[in-house]
Amino acid sequence: MIFKTACLLTGGDPSKLELFVNNRTRLTGEVTVSSSKNAILPILAASLLTDEEVQIDRVPSIKDVIIITELIHNLGSGIEKKENKIIFRAAQVGTSPDYELVRQIRASFLVAGPLLARHGAIKIALPGGCAIGTRPIDLHLKGFRALGAGIGLSGGNVIASSSGLKGNHIYLDFPSVGATENIMMAAALAKGTTYIENAALEPEVVDLANFINTMGGRISGAGRNVIRIEGVKRLHGSHYTAIADRIEAGTYMVAAAATGGDITIKNVIPEHVKAVTAKLIESGAQVAEGRDKIRVKRDGAIKPLYLKTLPYPGFPTDMQAQFMAYLSCADGSSVITESVFENRFMHVPELSRMGAKIKAESRTAIIKGVKELSGTRVKATDLRAGAALLIGALMAKGTSIISNSEHIDRGYENIVDKLNGLGADIYRQEEESRH
Ligand code: EPU
Repeated sequence: MIFKTACLLTGGDPSKLELFVNNRTRLTGEVTVSSSKNAILPILAASLLTDEEVQIDRVPSIKDVIIITELIHNLGSGIEKKENKIIFRAAQVGTSPDYELVRQIRASFLVAGPLLARHGAIKIALPGGCAIGTRPIDLHLKGFRALGAGIGLSGGNVIASSSGLKGNHIYLDFPSVGATENIMMAAALAKGTTYIENAALEPEVVDLANFINTMGGRISGAGRNVIRIEGVKRLHGSHYTAIADRIEAGTYMVAAAATGGDITIKNVIPEHVKAVTAKLIESGAQVAEGRDKIRVKRDGAIKPLYLKTLPYPGFPTDMQAQFMAYLSCADGSSVITESVFENRFMHVPELSRMGAKIKAESRTAIIKGVKELSGTRVKATDLRAGAALLIGALMAKGTSIISNSEHIDRGYENIVDKLNGLGADIYRQEEESRH
């Protein structure tokens, strides 16, 4: 079955929905984590590196995946969907992704590397900033230039072309996840060998390298500071399943601790959530690791923490907001410093509306623990801020209403069902029907 519109994946557009979260809930039971959003997005983009069939299993039904799938389809790739598997066949694809789709998701810039490698050309809208910061793409472009591409900027578009990419040494000033992935994809089909120095170490980068290697790529060193990519003439089809989502896992871990609950999270790679585990233990929670599961419980007070976000294996920026919600009820004052993004405290005023005492200045927030939060109307401004509000709402007394909940659906598969399966009382209602 070839699908034409994104909604066929979900059976409906979840936007314009408010989440109603009732009263304090102690979460208990088991929950299974889906495939990683941030691994699968570049993997789907990398399906453009070959004209053969690529099958991806266990594709999560989340908004960001739906948008990038639609973007790849719109470029001309054949797409077949069977349950949670997607088969791509990019026999012939264009070089100019649809602006309306590109502007919806920053990760769409990840098609630039594969298209440049395969066709020697791309015209794509500049991704622009988003709620969490300006998020430039200078390092992606630096990498493409080093591989021999000519880059121009015109009318809000990036126009890149090359008569054949050539391997080179590329030093990244910052270990950017997206730049490492884009350069790795472009270099996979370049002539000669590329070395990415000061590369991102994130597990999602390693997963992308593993996926490209199943297509016949020759990438080594992913997960270390220097990645070596020996370009090959062509890549072939593949059948792959992305790694489990460490941020989804971490979010449920924090939700368990925040609600004084006791839950087992299945389909986790414990190594990938080490920083979250360490901080939860420091805060007084108990964490037991199995081979592919983790149990988290807490019954004592929440101890305050000092926490600073860093590139992997440091504490993930994608878990910062959820920890802030948790620490808002700690027994004392915590300090959180955000060092990866310049504007990732959008959840602060919303948590404050629930009664949290947070003072944020520049990249540091001081969270003075309060006895309890109170349910009220709040607004999700981005994906992880939304997850933080859900955690705050589960801890709060009374009902919370979270508007703009479509942000949460960008990255968490079936989050309402999963939390309700752990004892929460959450339901959705269309925003329009209330007014
Ligand atoms: N940066 C530059 N120049 C560049 C690229 C990045 O200055 O060319 C800066 C960014 O502005 C930012 C920092 O470097 O301040 C980190 O950006 P990075 O490129 O590492 O992040 P990304 O690839 O844009 C991915 C995830 C994010 C996650 C970050 C950091 C995907 C699709 N997104 O973004 O995920 O926060 O890495 O780990 O993989 C999320 O899931 O909520 C999310 C935002």
